[in-house]
Parts: sequence; structure tokens; C-alpha cells
Amino acid sequence: MRISVIGCGYVGLVTGTCLAEAGHEVICTDNDPERIASLKAGVVPIYEPYLDAMLAANQRAQRLSFTSDAGETVRAGEAIFICVGTPPLENGEADLSAIDDVARMIASEARESKLVVEKSTVPAQTGQQLKRVLEVYRRNGTVQFRVASNPEFLREGSAVEDFLHPDRIVFGVEDEVSERQLREIYRPILERKFRCPVHRNACPATQPPTLVVATINSAELIKHASNSFLAMKISFANMIADLCEKVGADIKEVTRAMGMDQRIGPRFLDAGLGFGGFCLPKDVQAFIRLAERSGVDFNMLKEAERVNKRRIDLFFEKIRQALWVVKDKRVGVLGLAFKANTDDIRFAPSLDVLRKLLADGAEVRAYDQEAMDRTSAAFPQVHCCREPYEVAQDADALLILTEWEEFRQLDWQRVHGLMARPLVIDGRNLLNPAAMLESGFEYYCFGRPTESAAAPLVPAQVSKTSAVGITA
Ligand code: UGA
Repeated sequence: MRISVIGCGYVGLVTGTCLAEAGHEVICTDNDPERIASLKAGVVPIYEPYLDAMLAANQRAQRLSFTSDAGETVRAGEAIFICVGTPPLENGEADLSAIDDVARMIASEARESKLVVEKSTVPAQTGQQLKRVLEVYRRNGTVQFRVASNPEFLREGSAVEDFLHPDRIVFGVEDEVSERQLREIYRPILERKFRCPVHRNACPATQPPTLVVATINSAELIKHASNSFLAMKISFANMIADLCEKVGADIKEVTRAMGMDQRIGPRFLDAGLGFGGFCLPKDVQAFIRLAERSGVDFNMLKEAERVNKRRIDLFFEKIRQALWVVKDKRVGVLGLAFKANTDDIRFAPSLDVLRKLLADGAEVRAYDQEAMDRTSAAFPQVHCCREPYEVAQDADALLILTEWEEFRQLDWQRVHGLMARPLVIDGRNLLNPAAMLESGFEYYCFGRPTESAAAPLVPAQVSKTSAVGITA
């Protein structure tokens, strides 16, 4: 089928490329001409595993193309996927102006009937507005627009795998033709008839994806409710971690056993610095606003957000307690991306940590295998290192802010030898506390017994003199 994709951010690029991989003819556009020029030249502007090779292969096979001509894109596809951004407004609501612009553009450029698919994350009832805009602005009375919602559940860093091997595919539709057309688009994925670039055709023998057909309003709600639930799950795990610190339990032991209950499940129970990125924080806020506007008291979501914001303060308390005076200390930062396997730093916990370190007068040196360029543009004061050992050199403390596998695999003995003071504060619970202590490090993390748990630290503001004894 001929498919158009409007918006070449990460969702648009993954959607367009995976649908081309599944055998469709896909044309993509974006209102950023530089982005289109780069994509035409085969340069993917984001880091997402497998994406560049797939994009190049599908371009070569002439199943995937890019153009700045939005009108051409609209006319080319039988189905048009809207993948533009819905960033947060100051009040937390989603800014839907890009969706509105695209809808008006589709309405005026289309010459024949189209299926318009909402892929961007939007609040419930956006589809109804979309229908109205398409109807009101349409130039040609014979052109019919059918609207559907097809929310994405793609995690950055594993988006290709998530697209090709989803748990479920959700269609929000209000007519049979749209459902049939969407089934046709997703048939290769539902029937697993595609070349899998992730598993090289040795895909694990898991259940095929479940197809969920719902109304448009429900489909929109499914997306926001899913992200908000994941956010609550993370905040819940973080509160348990705080409790573990107080009672001398181990969060890993607790969440491991909790996750074995199939009603709970093991994922999204990793405690640490909390959730960041461009999806969970903004979707939680937008969901809170939607609930407020609808007269529904969803305070538990506000609480999940509050718990999340507090993670950075708690982490900083750990830093201050361990380092005592932060000013003029050389602090090494390992990891800047909001999570591993991405170069995305939007709403990353690392940004708040960097701001606080710099405000306290620390000398900050940092390394991330993918997110250095973006961070150095935002924080020119941070010294960017080419590799983790350079960060460790003469450092008074090392902070782990992203759970890159590379950091787990470091030669920690070598790191120990390089540091001015072998102090590691692990914001992602990446390392094994017992092994770190055994290797001679002072080691702190979230909710796991470390040396400090046996003798609780004195809050820095209580007594500066007694705090000297912390490191003894
Ligand atoms: C999230 C959802 O997981 C996707 O299903 C959804 O499609 C996507 O948003 C979206 O709306 O587009 P993503 O933002 O890529 O995906 O990242 P997640 O893997 O959800 O992680 C979000 C944050 O939570 C990260 O900062 C991560 O480090 C943190 N996290 C995750 C934890 O702190 N603990 C966990 O156990 C899991």
C-alpha cells in the first residue's frame, strides 16, 4: 500500500522505515528542510539501533523516500500517518497546533479520499477535532476523510523491535473500511511476514501481537493511560526503594519477587533517578490536565509526578552527604541520555543534576557514548571527555546517570586507581554494591544496602563537622 508519513521525528522515522521494511511504499515529509536533506542523503538525525541500516536499505529498494513537498506527500498515500510532535505547553497540556496545521494542510492538498491516521500521542477526543478540521477545511467536496487512531508504544532505544514485535497493536476506528485498511497495513507484522533486522530472521518464538480494535476515543486514552501507569509504576518502585533504605531491605530483592506475580510483572520496577525523556513526563502532565478538565480527581498521578521530581533532590542529598562540600570538587558524570541506547537528553534527569552541580561550583567532566554533542551545546561549562576513564581521572566522585551497559563493563579496578577519591554514586542501581565495596569503593545507590545503610548518614545540613566522618 502507498503510505504517507508527516513528521520525521523518531516516531515518524521508525513508523515510516518499519512500514517500508514490511513491504509498503512509504513517502515521508517534514517541515524542517535540513532534516529532509539529511535523510535524503541517508543520514539519520537520531541514534536508534538498526534504523540507519534499515532506512538505507529501503531507500535503495525505492520503498522509502523523503521530500520537503508536503502536498506531494499527502497526494501520494492512500493512508496518511500524522507523526508530528505534541510538546507540552506551559500549563502541561499538549500543544496540538502542529496537528491542526497538518490537518488543514491535508484538507487543502488532498485530491482524493484518504485514511488519516493519528500516530502522535494526543489527548482523548483529538480525533473528533481532527475529523471536524478535515471536514471544514476540505477544498473538494467529493474528497472524503476517514480518521483513525493508531497509538505507538515505541520505547526509544528499542523502537524498531517494539514496532516489529509489539505486544499489541491498537486501532481506534469508527468504520469498517478504515479497520480493513489498517489491517492490511499491519498484516505483515500481525502475521510476522517481514525480514527481521533485529533478530536476523531468528525471532524468538513468542506469541504474535494481539490486535485491539477500539473506538478512537478509547485508543487515544489507551496510550495516555499506558504511559501514565508506567510512570506510576516507576514512582511506586522509587518509594519502595526509599523505604528499603530506612528498614535495611534491598529494592532489587523486593521488586524481583514482586515482578514474579503475573498481575504485577517485572518491568518498569527499576528504582533510581526516576523517569525522564520526552514521553512519560509530558504525557503524565497532559493526562493530569485532561482529568482536571473532565472533572476527574486523578491526584494519584500528581503524586507520581511529585515523587519523580523529588528523585533529583534525593540524589543530590546523597552527593552532598558523601562529598560534604561540592564546591571545587571534580565530579565525573557517566551517562547523560535519559536512558540507555538513545542520544536523547530531553527531560533527562542528568540535566537537573548538571545544573545543580554547576550551581554548587563543582568542576564537571562528563561522558556519554551518544549524547555528548547535545549536552555540550546546552552546557558549554561541562568538560566533555572521550571515554569513561578520562572522566574518572582525578575525580572526587563519579555519578552514574544513565544505565549504559558500557559502564557496567568498565574495568572498575582501573577506575579506582585513577580517581582522587574512589567514590561512586549510582543513580541507576547499575552496579553490584557488594562488589563495589569489596573493590574498595565508597558506593551509594538507591534502596540497596551499602556501607552507608548500616550506619545511616548524617544529613549534611545538620552537622558539617560530623559529616567529615562519613567517609571514614
Ligand atoms: C515511553 C513508553 O515506554 C513507550 O511505550 C511509549 O511509546 C513512549 O514513551 C512514547 O510515548 O512515545 P520512552 O520514553 O522511550 O518510552 O522511555 P521508557 O523506556 O518508557 O523510559 C522512560 C524513563 O523511565 C527513562 O528515563 C527510564 O530511565 C525510566 N525508567 C524506566 C525507570 O526509571 N525505571 C524503570 O523501571 C523503567
